[in-house]
Amino acid sequence: SDDYPFIQALPKVDLHLHIEGTLVPELRWKFAERNNLTLKSPRTGRTYASLEDLKSEIETFTFFEAYYDGFNVLLTKQDYSDLAMNYFERAAAMNVRYVEIFFDPQGHTNRGVSWETFMSGFKEAATKAEQELNVKSKWIMCILRDWSPESAMQHYEAALKYRDMIIGLGLDSDSYKFPPSLFENVWSRARADGFFKLTAHCDDGAKEDVHEHIREAVCSMGGSGADRIDHGINAADKPELVELIKQRGLGLTLCPCAYLRHQPAEPMYRKIALLYKAGVKCMIGSDDPAYMDDNWQVNNMLVVKAKCGFSNEDMTNIARNAVDMCWGPPELKKAIY
Ligand code: HPA
Ligand code: ZN
Repeated sequence: SDDYPFIQALPKVDLHLHIEGTLVPELRWKFAERNNLTLKSPRTGRTYASLEDLKSEIETFTFFEAYYDGFNVLLTKQDYSDLAMNYFERAAAMNVRYVEIFFDPQGHTNRGVSWETFMSGFKEAATKAEQELNVKSKWIMCILRDWSPESAMQHYEAALKYRDMIIGLGLDSDSYKFPPSLFENVWSRARADGFFKLTAHCDDGAKEDVHEHIREAVCSMGGSGADRIDHGINAADKPELVELIKQRGLGLTLCPCAYLRHQPAEPMYRKIALLYKAGVKCMIGSDDPAYMDDNWQVNNMLVVKAKCGFSNEDMTNIARNAVDMCWGPPELKKAIY
């Protein structure tokens, strides 16, 4: 596209990227081979004949089927380090300077992988990326909302040991019937301890309860609301939610390619344009590029620019919003813009 050189050159920050969502099929295949695992379809139990076979079958899965099945090949420190490095190399190539990366510890400890294994792998890659690629990073531990509050609290407590790397707590997985308030004991504990910022996915897959999830995240999570909202695009349906979000100065991390799974494109882009024009602070993130037709951050920004009719100045504002919304120190923010 004609806009590519401009978007590519913008200094970028990504605040909505799941490291497990960057597991491209090539890496999944490679990790399976070196861990002596036979990759099979989680639906039929059939062994994949080839990488091409794996790729075409993944296309037929729901997002969560494909995403969680990928976790099974992640076993060693090297796997986590290589997964993160694959992302950091792509980030550097897109002129992404800083990223706050989601990870789902419950999906790893559950299979017997220790915190030390995945955190040391992430740390190795993050250190190398900062030194060699000029990409800085922090990590956001997500709670799986379809798991128990007890498991969430245990993982919160385990995360405290890694607070040099972990900057925030998030909430992800399938959101229907799993509002942020189910985990209020964790959010209020985190507020009392004071080490982590708070955010929550609101929307993705959510149905009739979506606006209530946004209201909780804005107003009550952790006592008086979160520090950011992930997605939240359907706030555009309710003028009073738009007003509340603006009043509280909360930013939204919007990921257009994620919404195409749940809603038609044209009204969805209209919602993004409405939120931006209403003065809601928003940035464009990439969510799970390996499961969203290989759309990394630059492509997400390009599609938003085209579909929302945004100018170069609008896109510069959006890139600056990400810097503004991030939880890095002032020196880091100043170095980017
Ligand atoms: N939605 C909800 N949970 C997730 C996602 C998503 O797109 N990606 C990883 N966990
Ligand atoms: Zn997400």
